[in-house]
Amino acid sequence: MRYTEHGIPYLALPPPHSNIRLTPPRKEDGPSVMAILNHPSVYMNLAGPPYPYTQTDWDTWYPELSEFTNKALWELQGAQDSLRNGEAKESDWKSRKWVGAGVPLSTIREVDHGTGEERLIGEINFRRREFLMILDVVEKKRVKEENDAREAGDPDIVWEIGFYLSPSCHGRGIMPAVVRTLIADFLVPYMNVHVMTGAYMDHNAASKKVLEKNGFIFDSLVPDCIEMLEVKTRVKGKKCKGREATADLALMSYICKDFVTESAKPKQLPNFNGSRRLSQEIAATADPSIDRLTIPVEE
Ligand SMILES: CC(C)(COP(=O)(O)OP(=O)(O)OC[C@H]1O[C@@H](n2cnc3c(N)ncnc32)[C@H](O)[C@@H]1OP(=O)(O)O)[C@@H](O)C(=O)NCCC(=O)NCCS
Repeated sequence: MRYTEHGIPYLALPPPHSNIRLTPPRKEDGPSVMAILNHPSVYMNLAGPPYPYTQTDWDTWYPELSEFTNKALWELQGAQDSLRNGEAKESDWKSRKWVGAGVPLSTIREVDHGTGEERLIGEINFRRREFLMILDVVEKKRVKEENDAREAGDPDIVWEIGFYLSPSCHGRGIMPAVVRTLIADFLVPYMNVHVMTGAYMDHNAASKKVLEKNGFIFDSLVPDCIEMLEVKTRVKGKKCKGREATADLALMSYICKDFVTESAKPKQLPNFNGSRRLSQEIAATADPSIDRLTIPVEE
């Protein structure tokens, strides 16, 4: 973890991407976020944000984002104090404080080392899982509430990662490096993350690659899970068999029972060989519904 001269924490990527940082979001990021989210090679791969994405959308979203970020930054301070005070016992995660809200360093910026100027090039979200692939709303709510109620640092929390980059930065190997840095320098040492998932629309080969390069493995696929906005596809209609009005959602999961706390090995990457299929490892406890997803069949 590094700090700006104003004491704001950030993570820097290793070479060849050492001019890229993960920082907290800022209110003035709106126009840059709008420019990226309104590009078809980005919005066609995202289910979540509104489209077209407007300044009003950002102004509505930012207070929530800011509140969440401040909570996570406050938790980070507690986690760091707890480490400094030697409270951590390797065998007992409850013996120290952890960040439980999510990652507060969610904005990816490229820094011009000559001028010091920063350019927003993307975002990475890391939150407790939304369980988008569970289509039964009652079951989804139950599983989500159970996951949300887990204490910060609980290794059984199921997390979810999501990301996007400015089209001008695609194909430079940036996002795999961002995810790798985040795992090694934040998720393991400050959050005790053991179980992560990432979902992508099945047509999105680049997103799949990013996850694979970081040790995630394919878990399952739900056909026609995402209803694409008509304004994006120009196709009328709700869920149907056509691939334009809906998208298949694929799930990748990353599970490692061998993660270690920072007290033991501060900068070590998780052992990717320890990855196992979500359905084999934790379906019975963390996400019992995953093996019996109801896939809607629509005529
Ligand atoms: C997905 C995304 C974050 C990838 O980040 P990136 O930094 O560009 O990733 P990389 O530079 O490693 O490139 C992605 C990999 O996918 C490959 N790839 C890209 N498009 C591909 C395609 N259509 N078919 C097969 N492979 C493809 C690239 O060749 C590269 O693999 P390689 O390094 O082995 O050659 C970026 O493309 C993006 O922001 N897309 C729009 C938003 C999005 O899809 N977000 C994810 C939602 S789940």
